[in-house]
Amino acid sequence: SQKIYILAIESSCDDTAASVMCNGKILSNIVASQKIHEAYGGVVPELASRAHQQNIVPVVDMALKTAEISKTQLSAIAFTRGPGLMGSLLVGTSFAKSMAYGLDIPLIDVNHMQAHILAHFIEEDGFKKPPFPFLAMTISGGHTQIVKVNSYFDMEVIGETIDDAVGEAFDKSGKLLGLGYPAGPEIDRRAALGNPKAFAFTKPKVDGLNFSFSGLKTAILYFIQKQVKANPNFIEEHLNDICASIQYTIIGILIDKLKLATKQTGIKHIAIGGGVSANSGIRQALKNGEQKFGWTTYIPKFEYTTDNAAMIAIVGHLKYLEGDYADQSIMASARLKI
Ligand code: KG4
Ligand code: ZN
Repeated sequence: SQKIYILAIESSCDDTAASVMCNGKILSNIVASQKIHEAYGGVVPELASRAHQQNIVPVVDMALKTAEISKTQLSAIAFTRGPGLMGSLLVGTSFAKSMAYGLDIPLIDVNHMQAHILAHFIEEDGFKKPPFPFLAMTISGGHTQIVKVNSYFDMEVIGETIDDAVGEAFDKSGKLLGLGYPAGPEIDRRAALGNPKAFAFTKPKVDGLNFSFSGLKTAILYFIQKQVKANPNFIEEHLNDICASIQYTIIGILIDKLKLATKQTGIKHIAIGGGVSANSGIRQALKNGEQKFGWTTYIPKFEYTTDNAAMIAIVGHLKYLEGDYADQSIMASARLKI
């Protein structure tokens, strides 16, 4: 039987990633994370694109070497067209275009948000695939969306953030508490040691399935300023409780919207993706929902939930099967929609 080998490249934000896939199975999944942004407490676009330029050749080489595949065996090259930071996207796009041209093989453009969702279709032992139609919630430092997925390429965004992404809510709250960047993992760790009901933060009121997280950040800022005025050691003395309370509020917001989405659509299969889906409280709340609300939840392998190229490869594979190729005139698109 014919073997389809896809080389995929992802460079939409601050991770330079490459992956090789054979017939839906991952042979290699390489990610070079850019440490440089930690010092700035967030991603600096100009530094990101320069780091992509330095990383892309070694990362692609490593992906091919790990997969034990030579360039000449490749069937096609897939790359992230958008959405993302323009300077970052341009590095991956130009690289993929030249490589496909040089090898004279098909070039396949991939939407990063579709890829977060279709990561659930990577062939992986022990992971079940969601049946169509299902709801996908993509939660990360850059995105917060609920998508109704009717088939691989028929998707409809039914809710999204009107300001900050949920990962930013974690990271910006962490910054107020003096935690490092990104703060999500540490808030998660500390939340497990604290009381989630120690402090109450009001949830934003946003209509329908949309989200808002900027008000929460401001509420936390005012709360902390007030407490620190009364007790300069407030943060140190209550850090775990504060983290637990912030995380509890965020989880409540996400679960409320999912409940509404399942009610509106009648769909009870829920697949999650994005870096924030690593959060142990969110995972627990989703699992509890299986009993409480009759959901079935799908969580991919951790390395396929954060930004990675394996998820770009599976979309490349699916589009290859359909003969859906791009040509050399294709351009990166920072605001590409689903
Ligand atoms: O998907 P990702 O690696 O990159 C993009 O933003 O696209 O997601 C990174 C985000 C950061 O905001 C980080 O704080 C958050 O995911 N994050 C977490 C956890 N692990 C990563 N947030 C809460 N709990 C975690 N365990
Ligand atoms: Zn992403």
